[in-house]
Amino acid sequence: MFAVTADRIDAADPLSGLGLGDRPEPQPPEGWTTVEVRACALNHHDLWTLKGVGISPDRLPIILGADAAGIDESGREVIVHAVIGDPFAGAADGGGDETMDPRRSLLSEVYDGTLAERVAVPSRNLVPKPAGLSWAEAACLPTAWLTAYRMLFVRSGAHPGDTILVQGAGGGVATALIALGRAGGFRVWATSRDEAKRQLALDLGADAVFEPGVRLPERVDVVMETVGEATWSHSLKALKPGGRVVICGATSGPNPPADLNRVFFLQLSVIGSTMGTRDELAALADLCVAKDVRPLIDSTYDLRDARSAFERLASGEAFGKIVLTNR
Ligand SMILES: NC(=O)c1ccc[n+]([C@@H]2O[C@H](COP(=O)([O-])OP(=O)(O)OC[C@H]3O[C@@H](n4cnc5c(N)ncnc54)[C@H](OP(=O)(O)O)[C@@H]3O)[C@@H](O)[C@H]2O)c1
Repeated sequence: MFAVTADRIDAADPLSGLGLGDRPEPQPPEGWTTVEVRACALNHHDLWTLKGVGISPDRLPIILGADAAGIDESGREVIVHAVIGDPFAGAADGGGDETMDPRRSLLSEVYDGTLAERVAVPSRNLVPKPAGLSWAEAACLPTAWLTAYRMLFVRSGAHPGDTILVQGAGGGVATALIALGRAGGFRVWATSRDEAKRQLALDLGADAVFEPGVRLPERVDVVMETVGEATWSHSLKALKPGGRVVICGATSGPNPPADLNRVFFLQLSVIGSTMGTRDELAALADLCVAKDVRPLIDSTYDLRDARSAFERLASGEAFGKIVLTNR
């Protein structure tokens, strides 16, 4: 089958390790099933993999991709949940949360990913695709949009009416935070380095937009971080006393000054967040239909033209998700 792979790691020139071509059909183990991929989407995670972050070289070549929607073996339209982990992890009360499994992985880290004609996944990782979502829209949900959902509605402690600041508005997670934040009744502020992206953030539903690092009209309740070093200092300065910064990524670097005096004196909380559970993905899909929210798609390519899609992702110019379709 046709697939898009990480063949080699090259931190300086990540796209040089991208492979497009024939790969063996998936061989699902017991309890797993195969999904015929109709649409899949790119994430910054795929670039990290090509740069050697979060992947062991002995896994290569590996099929890239964590996002997909398609048709399962019984003909149902499904969305693929990308977290491979123990659903009962951390379950003192019988609940459980696979994102808390210390041995969890994301599709394309240990097991082959979604940028292919077919992908094997645990049967429990399938979520019904609502009829109201297109293939491309559904394929945007499992990584960036699920991460944004958990940041906003599970981890942040924010209430409707609170002001949230989204750093780096153009990214896949950031555009999801703006759209879902608006749907959730928060006052959404966003920063972007780019004037055109700031306008697009307003169009998407942000109440106000700012250049990175500027003094805000007032301090905010929660900051949503995906950028890391480039915006961290501003994120801490932007918070009210008792405010919270929720962080799921560090695109510009993981080691900014900690500014500990500010953290304790203003009693700030730093909250990590990663992906979401299968049930949260199902709730997100339902919420998109109920609130008429749709993932913002920057561009769509044929799966076989994945190199152009990766060039767009690597350029940093995208606003929203980059989708690949499979016939
Ligand atoms: N923990 C998890 O489960 C999880 C899930 C999804 C993503 N992530 C992480 O979250 C991050 C974002 O992912 P994504 O897929 O949304 O990435 P993306 O679509 O590539 O987003 C990149 C955005 O980050 C901003 N940015 C990048 N470099 C910057 C810099 N030097 N200074 C300021 N802003 C910068 C840009 O915003 P502007 O151009 O608008 O300024 C850009 O639009 C990645 O690091 C990813 O690995 C983690």
